[in-house]
Amino acid sequence: MKYQFPKDFMWGVATAAAQIEGAAFEDGRGPSIWDVFSRIPGKIHGGDLPEVACDSYHRYEEDIALMKKMGIRSYRFSFSWSRIIPDGTGEINPEGIRYYKNLIACLKKNGIVPNATMYHWDLPYALQIQGGFGNRNIVQWFCRYAGVLLDNFGEDVDLWVTFNEPIAVYVGHAYGFFAPGLKDEKYARQCLHNLMLCHGEAVKLFRSRKLANAKIGIVVDVWKHYPAREGNEEDEAIATFQNEIAGYGMFLHPLFLGGYSDELTRYMKEKDMTPEIREGDMDVICQKLDFYGLNFYNGLYDNADEIRKREEIRKAGGNYQDRPVYHEEAIRDVLHMLVEKYGITIPIYVTENGLMQEDGPDVEKILNDEERIRYVRNVLKALHGAMEDGICVKGYYLWSLLDNFEWSGGYSMRYGLHYTNYKTLERVPKKSAGWYAQVIADDGFEE
Ligand code: FCB
Repeated sequence: MKYQFPKDFMWGVATAAAQIEGAAFEDGRGPSIWDVFSRIPGKIHGGDLPEVACDSYHRYEEDIALMKKMGIRSYRFSFSWSRIIPDGTGEINPEGIRYYKNLIACLKKNGIVPNATMYHWDLPYALQIQGGFGNRNIVQWFCRYAGVLLDNFGEDVDLWVTFNEPIAVYVGHAYGFFAPGLKDEKYARQCLHNLMLCHGEAVKLFRSRKLANAKIGIVVDVWKHYPAREGNEEDEAIATFQNEIAGYGMFLHPLFLGGYSDELTRYMKEKDMTPEIREGDMDVICQKLDFYGLNFYNGLYDNADEIRKREEIRKAGGNYQDRPVYHEEAIRDVLHMLVEKYGITIPIYVTENGLMQEDGPDVEKILNDEERIRYVRNVLKALHGAMEDGICVKGYYLWSLLDNFEWSGGYSMRYGLHYTNYKTLERVPKKSAGWYAQVIADDGFEE
């Protein structure tokens, strides 16, 4: 069977500033929360730092040449707020503006469509010490930053994303293993509310600019949980909690349906964690968007007995290592849910999808990434199915162009189509790079 995608399907790759740029202290850039967080012992695997990463700040032309060679049609990258406005609110850094102007110009010269994210987790540290997303002034700070981006790049970026995966801000404030490293769920919930206000106000600002060709959306990741044993009440309760209270429901409900869901409202009330919500906030958050960006990595099955077993092992000081089980097919159900439950009928882009490989001494093995090819092929098959069901999916971005700084996983987790040698900074194509290039050339694959 041929899995044929439309001729204008937006085949892309995705990256993020903090994960690839490096040059953390060059040309006037200020520190971000990830620069600071990564210096705290024990926070990042192997004590890795994002300061050099893939050095894409100096090697962006080389990276674009890799994309060109593969026939990539669109590049999803993010702006570093700390490079544009080093202390978050003050002077604009001309070197930062210059870098992104050059990057975008080079993409255009190579016929690659820019898809740019305003915020991909790297808040200027100067704002964190004023409360970060927990301080409602973040709305003004973010709008100023968004305005600077739109002034400089408004017409040159075709697809604008306000935020990438707001859940990371929650994780960083509630669980502590992402920057800024706090463990305070109540504060985290206020941060999320304020973040969604930033999104809404930025969309309003964007609309006021009346840019002829640019579109705006948001990226929300969906890790849909299912009960492992259907009809088992405990499994079902866990899945509902993970989806509605601690997962995508936190965002999709307010962003697309308006207001918090009944489940979440009840939960926050019971726990005394309801954020400060001012009159009009929910209308600001629920803006009409041009597209929705879905980051999909897996569907998850919750089994209460297994979870208990793991807890016991952990409590006894043991190390419970899950072997990941992939449910690539879940993307089809997730896409249906977006349309049927959240009424998302605007075009959808899969803005991230990919597979992690653990680092190891055997480079040949990493280069021969058959497993990634198998995984992506399965995702694309399910995605194709959803499109046949009538769901409007306009593009797919593979995470990632090259191995990079994987947040608290440091450099130990490799998601790239290209192998990054962190000593020499050389990029070497993996088997998947050639495979993906062929998929793009053929707008699909046969199987
Ligand atoms: C996503 C993030 C992205 C990358 C991938 C593997 O959740 O948006 O930056 O880390 O996971």
